[in-house]
Amino acid sequence: MRLFKVAVGNKVITNLQNRLCVFSPINNKVFGVIPKIESSKELNLIFQNAKKHFYEFQKTSFQYRKKILLNFVELLKQKKEDLVSILIWEIAKNKKLALEEIERTINYIEDTIDEYKNIIKSNNRVIDESIHHIKGKQGNFSLQPLGVVLAITPFNYPLNLLIAKIVPALISGNVVVFKPSTQGACIAAYISTLLYKAGFSNGEISCVIGKGSEIGDTLIENHNIDMISFTGSTKVGIHIAKKQPLIPMVLELGGKDAAIVLEDVNIKKVVKEIIKGSFTYNGQRCTSIKRVFVDNKIKKEFLDEMNFQLKFLTIGSAAKGNYDITELIDKEAVIHNLKLLEDAFYHGAKSAQKVKIVGNNILKPIVLFNVSDNAKIIKEEQFGPVLPIMFFDTIEEAIKMTNSSKFGLQASIFTKKIDLAFEIANRLEVVTVNINKSSSRSPDIFPFGGIKHSGKGLQGIRESILSMNRIKGIIENS
Ligand code: G3H
Repeated sequence: MRLFKVAVGNKVITNLQNRLCVFSPINNKVFGVIPKIESSKELNLIFQNAKKHFYEFQKTSFQYRKKILLNFVELLKQKKEDLVSILIWEIAKNKKLALEEIERTINYIEDTIDEYKNIIKSNNRVIDESIHHIKGKQGNFSLQPLGVVLAITPFNYPLNLLIAKIVPALISGNVVVFKPSTQGACIAAYISTLLYKAGFSNGEISCVIGKGSEIGDTLIENHNIDMISFTGSTKVGIHIAKKQPLIPMVLELGGKDAAIVLEDVNIKKVVKEIIKGSFTYNGQRCTSIKRVFVDNKIKKEFLDEMNFQLKFLTIGSAAKGNYDITELIDKEAVIHNLKLLEDAFYHGAKSAQKVKIVGNNILKPIVLFNVSDNAKIIKEEQFGPVLPIMFFDTIEEAIKMTNSSKFGLQASIFTKKIDLAFEIANRLEVVTVNINKSSSRSPDIFPFGGIKHSGKGLQGIRESILSMNRIKGIIENS
């Protein structure tokens, strides 16, 4: 068991009188213990202090904020091994994926610093009499930070998605209160102490530890919040939007990304890519491929190849090696997937694989076919290593099936006919379509977001910075 400290405003808290215990999915035992927030009074004070400090922090220079962020990058590099170990034990991410998460996060910070400079240049504008119909006015428009940003982050990228909210906020001169999910709270607390050590030690950041069910509403209702960036479930996203209808918000919610496979593809290559897109980190990504639609003309070859290649996925504990399939985040996640499987089989689905749990919380990957439209797996997000494959006769049908989902995050199209792929892409009700690759948020510099039940607003680097700033206009009249 490991004890974590947490940075809240201008203090690092070590007192474990009120604490949150985080269980490891690897052995279901307590992995980490962190000081937690108990009362609404404490929480309100955190926001009050954050707002107070914002008025000071917003006056700091870009160079000052950049220097602290670069100190933070150095600390991330120094602590890489420790970060990897926390990711393995707290969320059962294998070492290779954990290292990738850290690397992409470092790139994210460096790219954000560069992009902020460009954004400021292109958004600070003077509009005056050089425009023929403007008389006696000079409008000075510039970007200004919003104030207190509340970041709420999920378990699956507890480092990258945290930084992708905190860093655009801080580089712009906002202050941040962040609340990680319980699974992911250890790494968030650890990161808060690194940010503090790097120089954000005067009240710029506050990490709030606690169960969403206990402090969630007090947290999101606070009147000192100026912006919310949330990644998590659609249910919670809608709840937040109802509680704070007027403040700017970016919501990254669920997904049910489809892959459409046309008949002209290299089946071997496409199956390999879909397996990667679907089963990386056990399918626990909002952008995992969660439905596959294949042209009926290649049904048999596609299924045979899928069942063949599935056997090569390695299965084992995240603590023991770089296995493709590791522990799901908790027992509830296993149960959720088992229920979806039971329901799919009840509605007539077939599979060449057997349902099997290995060790603790590890569900063997399963591909389903003959899946009825009435099965829950068609509509609900599985967030696990279970993949339904459906078939179509016409492209119209494939488009209709893809758009039938309430989610609208990303989709993939596999074909050699690029013009046709563009035509289909333009008709899919999602934000991003990937041609001949599986869905993905990365590279992080790309704009990323969802429509329908997948969210609102955009993340990315430029988009996240813009979402955390507003235009201020000061007009001189002569
Ligand atoms: O889980 C949601 C993440 O934003 C997905 O990120 O596509 O880079 O794995 P990723």
